[in-house]
Amino acid sequence: MAGVSKVVDVDELLPQLCNEFDQHFGKRPEVAGCAPGRVNLIGEHTDYNDGFVFPMALSMVTVLVGCRTDSGVCKVVTTAEGVDEPKVVEFALPTGDRPLQPGKPAWSNYVKGVVQNYKGKVSSFNALIGTTVPLGGGVSSSASLEVATYTFLEQLDKSGKTVSLKEKALACQKAENDFPKMPCGIMDQFISVMGKKDHALLIDCRSMESKLVGLTDPNIVVLVTNSNVKHKLTGSEYPLRRKQCYKAAKVLGKNSLRDATMDELQSHQNKLDDETFRRARHVISEIARTTDAADALARSDFSTFGKLMVQSHNSLCIDFEVSSIELDELVELAMSCEGVYGSRMTGGGFGGCTVTLLKKDAVESTVQHVQANYSGKATFYVCAASDGARSLQL
Ligand code: GLA
Repeated sequence: MAGVSKVVDVDELLPQLCNEFDQHFGKRPEVAGCAPGRVNLIGEHTDYNDGFVFPMALSMVTVLVGCRTDSGVCKVVTTAEGVDEPKVVEFALPTGDRPLQPGKPAWSNYVKGVVQNYKGKVSSFNALIGTTVPLGGGVSSSASLEVATYTFLEQLDKSGKTVSLKEKALACQKAENDFPKMPCGIMDQFISVMGKKDHALLIDCRSMESKLVGLTDPNIVVLVTNSNVKHKLTGSEYPLRRKQCYKAAKVLGKNSLRDATMDELQSHQNKLDDETFRRARHVISEIARTTDAADALARSDFSTFGKLMVQSHNSLCIDFEVSSIELDELVELAMSCEGVYGSRMTGGGFGGCTVTLLKKDAVESTVQHVQANYSGKATFYVCAASDGARSLQL
């Protein structure tokens, strides 16, 4: 389709990675772990407030190929573009009194964090990383690397010990919290582990229960538009938003904003500064929008779904203040096109991508219109809901 980028298929990526592994290590890899990026349809900045999120896994994936070694040293090569140098790292297997430490290059922290938090037996290994997930694009390149690393380690682990998918997601979240030191919620790792082809997943981030909602209408498309303005969430804004939400919950006498109603928030308005009040108003309204949107999608009510997406975007922009000029522009341009139900920023914000729900026959004209009028250079992906993490047959 004109203007839409093709996502390299994992079947095409895998042989390339195997060859590159061979060039680096002088032998063929024996195992491969694969995990997808995600796009969140609605439910933003709600996961760390015990709320609901509604993401789907993408066909864009990160893959680790490699094999066990008995050297006691882990050697990892990345082929990802745009990551910091060096592209090869070596580290000794962690022991009880010598745990791994975060450091440079930044990309290696995702791998080391997972090795440190892996729940079974880690052996030393050689590995090569490849990815089709745009980095810093708000579609969870980080979680896909963590979950792919965990899945890779599972293939190497001969101890027979397995953990539940929930524990796997939690271990990967802890890796991200402890190593790159990004205090993320559970959404990205959860969907990367549990995504299902043709479905979005309504996740209750308090109980960690989830419900699949079918996304199979052939006339409906999920379009991801990358503003190509990179976001960086390890800065101070994301942790600040978390703190403001926790502060609001405390003032309201709640464990989390999940337990608060809009009436309760309003009756405490005089005890909250304006900014904290607006942060809480976003979260409380977004949690309600997310379950409403999942219901709407389940009954194929795309126009209600679309309206909720736009409300979500406006709330993220005005009350939560995590959008950007470029994201606002992309949403406005998409919404001015015939056949578009809804559009919003997706992920943590401050750059990255928008997600748009539209009719299939409107994709080409929408892409053209947005591309022609956007102040930057956007990249467009038509996304199918895909499966979560898996081992790949070599
Ligand atoms: C990032 C985090 C997630 C979530 C989103 C915002 O992607 O990793 O845990 O908080 O931002 O919804």
